Amino acid sequence: MKRVYLPLIILCSVFTTLLSAPVRAADEPIVIRFSHVSSESSPKGKGALLLQQLVKERLGDQVSIEIHPAAELYNDTDGLEALRRNDIQMLAPSLAKFRAYTPKLQIFDLPFLFDDLAAVDKFQGRAKGKKLLLSMVEKDIVGLAYWHNGMKQLSATRPLNEPADAAGLTFRIQDSAVLKSQFKALTANTEVLAYADMFDALASGQVQGAENPWTNFDSKNLQQVQPYITETNHGVLDYMLVTNSRFWYGIPHHIRYELENIITEVTYAVNKAAAEENERHRNNVLASGKTRLITLTAEQREAWRQRMQPVWQEFSEQIGERLIHSAQAAN
Ligand code: SIN
Repeated sequence: MKRVYLPLIILCSVFTTLLSAPVRAADEPIVIRFSHVSSESSPKGKGALLLQQLVKERLGDQVSIEIHPAAELYNDTDGLEALRRNDIQMLAPSLAKFRAYTPKLQIFDLPFLFDDLAAVDKFQGRAKGKKLLLSMVEKDIVGLAYWHNGMKQLSATRPLNEPADAAGLTFRIQDSAVLKSQFKALTANTEVLAYADMFDALASGQVQGAENPWTNFDSKNLQQVQPYITETNHGVLDYMLVTNSRFWYGIPHHIRYELENIITEVTYAVNKAAAEENERHRNNVLASGKTRLITLTAEQREAWRQRMQPVWQEFSEQIGERLIHSAQAAN
C-alpha cells in the first residue's frame, strides 16, 4: 500500500463508520468484547486483564471491556471474521493468523530471521514494523500494538537433534504457508489445527510434534504428551492486538486517546514480562521431569538453520526483500 493512500483509507473508514455506526446514547458505555484463545494466566491473558483493569480505573463508566478467554467464543480464524463484522471488537491473534489479510506479516514466520526477542522488539518498534500495524486497514482490521510471547521451540515424540530426525513426523502448525514450507524443508508433514485442538491431537498421536514458545508449551501442559523438546529458538510467536477500524475510529476522540495511552502502558508491561515469563514456564517444564530438554551445539543449530532458511526465498517476493533486510538489520 502506498503511504500516500493510508490517511485516505482511514478517513474513508471513519466516514463510513459515522454513517453506519449504531446510535449509542451518550450515557451508555462503549463495550469492547475482547476474545482470545489463551488462558487467563498466559502473557496474552494477563495483558487482556490489565487492559480491563486500567480501562475501568481511568475511563469508569465510559468504556467496558468484556474478556472471553480460552476460545470460549471464537478461535483465531473465525475470531478475525467476527472482528471484521464488529461482533467482537478486540482480538490478539498470533502473527501467523493474518495471512488471509496481508502477505506482509508472514515475515514473522520466517525461520531463523530474528536472533532473539530483543531483535523482534527492535524491528516492531521501527517505522517499517509500525507500518505493518496498518497493513490491513482496507480489510477493516487495524493493529494497535505488538504483544510478545516468545521464541519457538520444537517438540516431538522422539529426540530432535539433527534436522533429519524430524523426517516423516507430522507437526501441528498454525495456518501458515511459511510454516508448512519450513517443515517441508525437513521432509516432515504438517497438519493445521486450532490451538484449542493441539493437546488432543498430540495425545491421540494424530500429530507427533509441534512448535511453541515455552509459555504455550507449559500452559497447554504439553509435557504430558511430548517427551522431547529441542531448544531451537528458530522462530517467533508474537501477537498483534487488533480492532475493527470502523469501530475504532468511530470512538469519540478524547476516549480513543485515553484508550491508546492505556494500550501503550499495557503493551510495555506485557513485553517487559515476556522473557521472564518464558524462563518461568521453561523451568516448570523441566521441573516436571516429563520432557527431556535437548540443547543444540552451535554446529547442530547451524544445520537446522541451513535446512530451514531456503524457505525465505519462496516468500521473499510476497513479503518484500527490503522488509526482510530491515528485519535482519534488527539483529
Ligand atoms: C496463541 O498463543 O494465541 C496461539 C498460538 C498458536 O495457535 O499456536
